Amino acid sequence: MILITGATGHFGKATIEHLLKKGTPPHTIAALVRDEAKATELKAKGIQIRKGDYNDYASLQSAFTGIDTLLLVSGNDLHDRLKQQESAVNAAREAGVKHIIYTSFVRKNETDTSPIAMVGKSHIETEKFIKASGIPYTILLNNLYTDMLPIFFGEQVLNTGIFLPAGSGKAAYTTRNDMAEAAANILTGQGHENKTYTIANTENYTLQDAATILQEITGKPVPYVNPTVADYTNALTQAGVPAEYASIFASFSEAIRQGEFDASTTDLEKLLGRKPATLRDYLTSVYSGK
Ligand SMILES: NC(=O)c1ccc[n+]([C@@H]2O[C@H](COP(=O)([O-])OP(=O)(O)OC[C@H]3O[C@@H](n4cnc5c(N)ncnc54)[C@H](OP(=O)(O)O)[C@@H]3O)[C@@H](O)[C@H]2O)c1
Repeated sequence: MILITGATGHFGKATIEHLLKKGTPPHTIAALVRDEAKATELKAKGIQIRKGDYNDYASLQSAFTGIDTLLLVSGNDLHDRLKQQESAVNAAREAGVKHIIYTSFVRKNETDTSPIAMVGKSHIETEKFIKASGIPYTILLNNLYTDMLPIFFGEQVLNTGIFLPAGSGKAAYTTRNDMAEAAANILTGQGHENKTYTIANTENYTLQDAATILQEITGKPVPYVNPTVADYTNALTQAGVPAEYASIFASFSEAIRQGEFDASTTDLEKLLGRKPATLRDYLTSVYSGK
């Protein structure tokens, strides 16, 4: 029996879709959800719904009972994430889970000097905790979702161009859908125990590449403007973006500029048995006709 956490979120839901597409019987898939009202579609597909919250250890203990393989989708609460995930790993060990797959995050700089240390720290510590638990594991070092780009660009991108302080930094932007398909292949495949995979595109792109592609797709001029971090955060806060978001976007831009997401790996291509979706594929799916 497989259990997917974060099953009402984008990654978990997409992984379940890929499992079903591959012919995995729905009754062998369980979904951890904290809000059952969000799980009606999953239930209708025959997926077992197990109620649980990372903050409620007893709920995890009972949800993980009888589970062989667990996909632990990282939580989105940056403040409590490490504690929550340690709790999930402890509950998995107690329940006798035989294989845990964790959606971690790629990084080069593991020190506090990393612009995204606030995101990376809990992933690094969770990986250590999983390895120390003795449960056979697979760590997925996920690159930056290509799906984050429209959020970073903002709704006015086709009128204003791309405005981000990422310089000419390259990143191996990877679609969440490809990452979820790879996770489904690991969940149903063999020989993935005690392995760490770098889940990244086989091509790296600058934001100038993204601007050029957007221009070609839409026929509109889309410049790439590379402001200073101070000019960037000022412009965002003046436009009413909460300071916390402006600071997170600036940190990710700086990490891109520093090459944190520049990758050279074929792990994902091998797991998929095909080339990952390109930046052009993804941007076309979002922006063509706009
Ligand atoms: N690589 C990247 O570029 C990137 C970008 C963004 C995020 N991420 C990471 O990847 C994860 C998956 O991405 P996503 O797009 O699927 O995110 P998402 O759509 O926000 O999904 C997160 C899932 O985690 C569940 N969750 C959060 N707190 C929980 C708790 N206390 N107990 C149980 N479940 C809880 C949410 O449940 P509800 O549906 O009830 O809210 C949701 O199902 C994120 O959580 C984040 O850690 C990576």
